[in-house]
Amino acid sequence: MDALIAAVTRPVTGEPALTTMLAEVARLLTDALGADGCLVFLAESGGDLVLAASHPRVASTGPPVRVPEGSGLAGRAAADGVPVSCEDDSPRHPGHREVLGLGAGQTVSRLCVPARVAGGGSCAVLAVHSRTRREFGGAEVDAAQRVADLVGLRVCVAAALATMRDHQDEWDAVVAGAVAAQEAERRRVAADLHDGLTQAIASLTFHLSAADVALGDGDVGYVAEQVAAARSLADLALGETRSAITGLHSPVLDDQGLAAGLAAMARAVPGLRVEVDAAEFPVPHHVGTSLFRIAQESVQNVVKHAGASRAVIRLAKHGHMVMLSVTDDGCGFDAPGQASTYGLRGMAERVHLLGGRLRIGSQPGEGTTVEVTVPTVL
Ligand SMILES: Nc1ncnc2c1ncn2[C@@H]1O[C@H](COP(=O)(O)OP(=O)(O)OP(=O)(O)O)[C@@H](O)[C@H]1O
Ligand SMILES: [Mg+2]
Repeated sequence: MDALIAAVTRPVTGEPALTTMLAEVARLLTDALGADGCLVFLAESGGDLVLAASHPRVASTGPPVRVPEGSGLAGRAAADGVPVSCEDDSPRHPGHREVLGLGAGQTVSRLCVPARVAGGGSCAVLAVHSRTRREFGGAEVDAAQRVADLVGLRVCVAAALATMRDHQDEWDAVVAGAVAAQEAERRRVAADLHDGLTQAIASLTFHLSAADVALGDGDVGYVAEQVAAARSLADLALGETRSAITGLHSPVLDDQGLAAGLAAMARAVPGLRVEVDAAEFPVPHHVGTSLFRIAQESVQNVVKHAGASRAVIRLAKHGHMVMLSVTDDGCGFDAPGQASTYGLRGMAERVHLLGGRLRIGSQPGEGTTVEVTVPTVL
């Protein structure tokens, strides 16, 4: 038995591919027990067993053999966590009979051992078979069980590694999302500066050059006109710079919190009455910033698209959930049809990063509500 365990330990610890390892173990166990073959089933999360490897290898025609939870010899071994044997077994499933090489009416002697996992349950079953009728003795059953438990350990490690890889993939997606959001924000700032500030400065330069030329001609009235135009453009540029800076960073948000930041942002919205109904409570900095950005984009959308007379920003905390909503009484729109545009997508990405939920309630002619719910630990 020790020779068998030593032989099995090699593929269990050294063979990287799970199914190759299982097939090798099936071969070793078949030879050690002088049997005709061995099927290896893996347990799925629902409890069914699925054929994953075998010795001798069976050419697979169609879907792999599946044994419903608790049924047949293998199913019973997995469910009860104990070896089960039978001298004249006759599986019902045609695919199962085919891989065992059984003709109509033929039976086979079988020993099924569960690969038990720590904490209960089985993750696999090794099913040894012999077409010559025989009984599997106590020592053989013990040896097979030890092999199965080794296999169980390896299957559990493989599952844990797969879960870890999934988490890593999720984490990579989160990082990629964060970097993409940052880049999008930068492009947006560049566009704001380009549209507002650089246009104003270009015109300002034009008026100052015209004033310079007129000064040479001694046309004082025209010079005064150009200087006045230049001054109003300078005011405009100053206003554009201020709003670009406010858009980038809210000192009120940093100093006084989210509710105060929202109130300050609402007061600065030109040409629209924005009411704020917000309680002040502590939220993690990144949550506060994200919610502020979402409110800012929602309010900008109301100004740009809704033609609304009024908007309301609400902020509240229920248990561990923070809820933010921005409602307007404007024209509404077909929200599902716009899901991939930049502003709305940016909101969805922010909410996703926070593990929250975004709902946009809007229909043409019926106003719009953007509602965000995010979990918070503070
Ligand atoms: N409150 C709203 N009322 C009416 N229509 C809206 C409202 N919010 C969004 N929309 C519609 O949804 C579209 C997509 O909005 P989104 O914020 O994604 O893009 P945008 O505002 O057009 O551009 P950007 O945000 O990149 O400056 C808008 O163009 C508009 O048609
Ligand atoms: Mg927008």
